[in-house]
Amino acid sequence: METAANAADRALQKGEELVQDTTNLSEFASGLEAKARDREEKMKALTWQWPNQVEVVELPKPRIIEDHDVIVQVTGSTICGSDFQLYRGRIFQLEKGDILGHEFCGRVESTGSAINSIKPGDRVVGSFQIACGECSNCRLKQPSLCDCADSDEIQRSLYGRRKPGVLGYSHLTSGFVGGQAEYVRMPYGEANLLKLPDDVIDEKGLYLSDVLCTSYHCVVDTGITKGSTVAIWGMGPVGLMCAHFAFQKGASRVIGIDNSWRLGWCKTKIPKLETLDYARVPLRSNISTELRKMVSGEGVDFALQCAATERARSMLHKLEMALRLEDCTSETLNEMILSVKKFGTIGITGVYAGYTNHVNIGAVMQLGIRIIGNSQAPVSKYWKELLEQIRSGDVDPSIMISHRIDLDDLPKAYRIFDSKQQDSMKTFVQTRFSNPPAPGTLPVVGLQA
Ligand SMILES: NC(=O)c1ccc[n+]([C@@H]2O[C@H](COP(=O)([O-])OP(=O)(O)OC[C@H]3O[C@@H](n4cnc5c(N)ncnc54)[C@H](O)[C@@H]3O)[C@@H](O)[C@H]2O)c1
Ligand SMILES: [Zn+2]
Ligand SMILES: [Zn+2]
Repeated sequence: METAANAADRALQKGEELVQDTTNLSEFASGLEAKARDREEKMKALTWQWPNQVEVVELPKPRIIEDHDVIVQVTGSTICGSDFQLYRGRIFQLEKGDILGHEFCGRVESTGSAINSIKPGDRVVGSFQIACGECSNCRLKQPSLCDCADSDEIQRSLYGRRKPGVLGYSHLTSGFVGGQAEYVRMPYGEANLLKLPDDVIDEKGLYLSDVLCTSYHCVVDTGITKGSTVAIWGMGPVGLMCAHFAFQKGASRVIGIDNSWRLGWCKTKIPKLETLDYARVPLRSNISTELRKMVSGEGVDFALQCAATERARSMLHKLEMALRLEDCTSETLNEMILSVKKFGTIGITGVYAGYTNHVNIGAVMQLGIRIIGNSQAPVSKYWKELLEQIRSGDVDPSIMISHRIDLDDLPKAYRIFDSKQQDSMKTFVQTRFSNPPAPGTLPVVGLQA
């Protein structure tokens, strides 16, 4: 999917010569023509430079390359927990100068010739995954398993098959140029853009890109039932919204596990949420024991993994990861295995990129534990339903938002929020094209480096 187009797009973004398959001479010529034109039209974008170093730079504006492309003028974007994995250089195949960001909303500026249902001027939100909309998996409403991506060698050898592309998420996921920018090129626009109605403000509609669909899918796909008990590892934006949707699906108790001020934040937003601070577990105890005590010994019905997996706590995993003997730590997975009831269910939404060691597979087998990999969330399966939930007030994405910042402040935001300083949860990143903050939403803040 899109290899030549992505290469051309990236070459333009980086201001390089258009080196691509010259067998398609007309595209090459029109590329050069467009390049000359684009020299006049610049945009700002957040680019990855090196582990723990990102910069806002001025680059040529993207242009239509394929007839199914749509160019969107970005009016809102944000940082996902996954972006910090890129920021730290933990995801392979990231290149200096790559534009990050996979969540954005905006206004359509131009459309390719194959686009019929979207027109310039429409307000839209973009899906973080780039699916073709036409393969058998897309037709089955499983865009997160789209077969059309041209996954790279590493991904194919790790997973044995193709995976869909992700916007702004390294060349491991097809190298699409990201959305933390003033403009973005959205491939397969008909499949990957949803129109936003006038009564849904950017400050809410933006989050249909990823976090709302991700958390809703985690709850639905793991199969949370009425009256069930649920524990969530990681109370970031995904964990918070999972708690909301778990209660919405009838869970009787939801316990959020984390170690930071975020537990307090989540409790103020969802007062019936119970919390467990893993850093305050008594010396001779552990998370699973403490959790089981909270639910009368047997364990919870469901455990949801909504935490990052690349930060090991034990020396053993730190060492194995440093020596590249594993890609992710199994610590939270093992805690979940020991925390669910017999025949309990675990849903994995927090990203595991590759291998992990020392999984307590014996307990999984002996206790009949079901482990569900939730995959990337199939965004377009849920976003219309969730749009209606936003309109009816059944979900309010603004409970996640802690900061509204300018695109220029994104490098500071990555640096500060990576260590979770300044009470950050989820940002709204405005560009020069954004409307002023909607009534009742947060004002823009300048970040102190
Ligand atoms: N599957 C998908 O489609 C999809 C989509 C978006 C995000 N994600 C993943 O979901 C996860 C959560 O996303 P987010 O944006 O909320 O991330 P985040 O980084 O903002 O939040 C993760 C939280 O987990 C906590 N945490 C870390 N280690 C923990 C542990 N051992 N036990 C308990 N808590 C722990 C952190 O303190 C943090 O508050 C990330 O791994 C992200 O990559 C997956
Ligand atoms: Zn994301
Ligand atoms: Zn597809």
